[in-house]
Amino acid sequence: MACCHADFAALEGSDRGFTVGMPTFTFGPGVLAEAGDNAAALGLRRVALFTDRTLATSEHVAKVKASLASAGIDHVVYDEVVIEPTDRSFHDATRFARESDVDGYVSVGGGSVMDTCKAANLYASQPAEFMTYVNAPIGAGQRVPGPVKPHIACPTTAGTGSETTGIAIFTLTSMNAKTGIISRRLIPTIALVDPDVTRTLPANVVASTGFDCMSHALESITARLYPRRLNPAQGIGRPVSQGANPFSDALATQALTSVGQFLVRAVNDAADTEARTEMMYAAMLAGVAFNAAGCHLPHGLSYAVSGLVKDWQVKGYPEGKTLVPHGMAVVLNNPSVWRHTAFAHPERHLRCARALGGSTNGATHADAGEVLAGRVVELMRAAGMPNGLTALGFDEAHLDALATGAEPQYRVIKNAPIDVGRDEIRSLFRAALRYW
Ligand SMILES: NC(=O)c1ccc[n+]([C@@H]2O[C@H](COP(=O)([O-])OP(=O)(O)OC[C@H]3O[C@@H](n4cnc5c(N)ncnc54)[C@H](O)[C@@H]3O)[C@@H](O)[C@H]2O)c1
Ligand SMILES: [Fe+2]
Repeated sequence: MACCHADFAALEGSDRGFTVGMPTFTFGPGVLAEAGDNAAALGLRRVALFTDRTLATSEHVAKVKASLASAGIDHVVYDEVVIEPTDRSFHDATRFARESDVDGYVSVGGGSVMDTCKAANLYASQPAEFMTYVNAPIGAGQRVPGPVKPHIACPTTAGTGSETTGIAIFTLTSMNAKTGIISRRLIPTIALVDPDVTRTLPANVVASTGFDCMSHALESITARLYPRRLNPAQGIGRPVSQGANPFSDALATQALTSVGQFLVRAVNDAADTEARTEMMYAAMLAGVAFNAAGCHLPHGLSYAVSGLVKDWQVKGYPEGKTLVPHGMAVVLNNPSVWRHTAFAHPERHLRCARALGGSTNGATHADAGEVLAGRVVELMRAAGMPNGLTALGFDEAHLDALATGAEPQYRVIKNAPIDVGRDEIRSLFRAALRYW
């Protein structure tokens, strides 16, 4: 791409290639009813159907079960998935997968369900001590040595894009912070992306997952450029996420255009089918984009926020459970990051602001961070997000603990367009305490 895009000019010794992985996907209203035929076409006879307690009795799971039955596919249901899963809940799911004697998997749910299904499939197919495949330096970060079983992913939220990614995220209980497993082998075989599922989504889930999608797209475009990535592996050893590249740029820009136009509408009106459908499509595009490009600071910082929050509950999420929805933790760390990173690639930050519907008329490179941060804050306020980390109970006294939680997230933090150390991470959290 050096010939047509100055950003991606190769450096001496840099990788001249980038690899994009994705499942075969089908998008459209009603496509959940194609689950059975897809399973049959994969040669499956008995599958484990992963979902969560709330969705287990939903019309969406019923539709998938009926489709499997009419295609003659036997199934066993696992509905013990924990929302915002942990290493313990991944263990429980793996035990189920090992004992259930299935030849494939179907997941029907949000990121929590799809990620749990990926992990259970992985450890049942390629048994290993749990930390073996977990991202280094928290885990050993070893390559998955062989194939896992076919997985048909059916997302029911419009945000994570997990149906397209080789990533499974969980909270490591001993560390009180999130981390993950990443391998091309975890990319689902087939994704059935049916926007009909979004009709039943509570407004808070639409908002949080929509901001997750937005951040995937923003982080893809503003990530370190792929010819400048730090992990030098090339060829077959090339990492799943390689930094910003022309393919991710295109998909992520399109996703941002939809987020700018439809996110607030989708939050405010469950009957706005156009807005909810466009958000479902945007989430899938952003998933393909960030799987190849990688996330960076907003996600790295969010993992500490999720791990350390106390007494925070959100309507629409499991009752009585303390959790910060993933997308909320991510967006709370957005404006502070953009103000800090914009100088590295002002054009890219301005392009993001424009795609999101922000006004960039007359904006200079020096304004890029403020312009993008300002547009994100506008969307946060319109969609009812909390006003910074203070709203979740964090203050100056927590900055050290937050920095300690975020520091080991090397995989994502080193994908930022600039180098940051502990002091900068602390300052970023301080700048995220309050926005308006
Ligand atoms: N693997 C990846 O690439 C990736 C990317 C981003 C985030 N994640 C992870 O995904 C998880 C978050 O997933 P999520 O944001 O999709 O939400 P979720 O799966 O945690 O679900 C949130 C809530 O929405 C409910 N719900 C889901 N679909 C519904 C529907 N159609 N109707 C009514 N209720 C519904 C669930 O029952 C739950 O209570 C986090 O653990 C996050 O770290 C993974
Ligand atoms: Fe995310």
